[in-house]
Amino acid sequence: MARVFPMPLRSCKLLLHGSHVSSMRRPFAILCRQINMEVESVVARLNACGLLRSQGLIGGKWAEAYDGKTIKVHNPASGEIITEVPCMGARETNDAIVSAYDAFSSWSKLTAVDRSKCLRKWYDLMIAHKNELGQLITLEQGKPLKEALGEVAYGAGFIEFFAEEAKRVYGDIIPATLSDRRLFVLKQPVGVVGAIAPWNFPLAMITRKAGPALASGCTVVIKPSEFTPLTALAAAELSLQAGIPPGVVNVIMGNAPEIGDALLNSTKVRKITFTGSTAVGKKLMAGAAGTVKKVSLELGGNAPCIIFDDADLDVAVRGTLAAKFRNSGQTCVCANRVIVQEGVYEKFAVAFANAVQKLQVGDGFSEGVTQGPLINEAALLKVESFVQDAISKGAKVVLGGKRHSLGKTFYEPTIVTNVRSEMLISREEVFGPVAPLIPFKTEAEAIFIANDTNAGLAAYIFTSNIQRSWRVSEALEYGIVGVNEGLVSTEVAPFGGFKQSGLGREGSKYGMDEYLEMKYVCMGDMNN
Ligand code: SIN
Repeated sequence: MARVFPMPLRSCKLLLHGSHVSSMRRPFAILCRQINMEVESVVARLNACGLLRSQGLIGGKWAEAYDGKTIKVHNPASGEIITEVPCMGARETNDAIVSAYDAFSSWSKLTAVDRSKCLRKWYDLMIAHKNELGQLITLEQGKPLKEALGEVAYGAGFIEFFAEEAKRVYGDIIPATLSDRRLFVLKQPVGVVGAIAPWNFPLAMITRKAGPALASGCTVVIKPSEFTPLTALAAAELSLQAGIPPGVVNVIMGNAPEIGDALLNSTKVRKITFTGSTAVGKKLMAGAAGTVKKVSLELGGNAPCIIFDDADLDVAVRGTLAAKFRNSGQTCVCANRVIVQEGVYEKFAVAFANAVQKLQVGDGFSEGVTQGPLINEAALLKVESFVQDAISKGAKVVLGGKRHSLGKTFYEPTIVTNVRSEMLISREEVFGPVAPLIPFKTEAEAIFIANDTNAGLAAYIFTSNIQRSWRVSEALEYGIVGVNEGLVSTEVAPFGGFKQSGLGREGSKYGMDEYLEMKYVCMGDMNN
């Protein structure tokens, strides 16, 4: 029988042995006995500060699905049901779009300073509630608590950064070609933004979109992943507490194709921003053509991590470990192929295996755990099938290579050698804790292997040669390059890919442009 978590007092229902009853009257203590004490206290704390929200947000009001349908949110570490959220569709999305559209006229007319103050307050509240947000991330996404707290700092950082950037949306004066003309360029918000976010960073992928959108004067309809809606809802609750007016931030979730179509088909929505798979990104890009919307896409990667003979091995092992095993391998910038020069291949393989062996797999709430579960069974099956495909084509598993003894969604940190280019693990994003090692002889060969993919998001190189680091960085067809560094994501730098890894950039001063229209104004008859 699925265990039950207490629902927030403000929510309408809770799932108890499969039936809905009012949470208002349900004594908290009775429910607490049914769940593990650690998770119990997390849920109680979240409830106490009103952050365990389980309804959508439309026009500043918490809302159920109009037909009453719900979807269950699970803890990926245990499979337990945390709560239910509304399974919304086209009607709720259209109402959220109308709310965002109505709110746009006043929000976009606020001074940049006033919008900045609201965002700053939102950031301050996120930091004040960093522990609760971190716990919520671990609860619904599974990553270790320490990593989840890191995500809160990273995610809140986008709000802080764009609160500051709001005040720096400058236009231009253009020297005119005729003496009676004055030419200038204004930057204006694009309008209502549909923001579709993934489950691997339940907070940061939302703030990376909402931060610049709100800073520039846009309003948003956010669709978090159905796997991890609770962090998005908590962030939305904090946006209201920060004084961001109703309708500026709306959150809907449920039937993804219906929500997506409603966002794409509406002429009121002027931009779609999406982080997720390349396949879905292509569909959104095609769908946006119907109403010619602006589109930003952060899609899949196939990151090469190149270790040259001249690398500092300690730095290379540390960097590769971070680039590969962050979030149990579930990021678009995770190293997908570890490409190692022949002279150092054996030495690196041994040192890397020693480091990987020390990773601790388990529930993200447990002390010392560095590797949480995968998001669900489907993710685990995909990882399993990629490893099986490699083995069937001659690869050798030197570490891990199977489900972890904890069962459920846990997979052993894995290293595979004898990997060839036709294997799925070197062609596609594994999105799990599997590191394929691929040998190479020359720099040119490494660059060829690295670029031999349709993806182009992140790449990593480890070398002590300054000229090589510059040369190879230039040759790599990637939007992000880490040199002697495996963790490169930050709110102050542009995040985005070449080729089929996406369009546009998020974060940094460049991220703001994605939410702005440029307007050229030509004033004539200026000599009178
Ligand atoms: C992603 O996996 O999509 C984002 C990773 C990051 O921000 O570092």
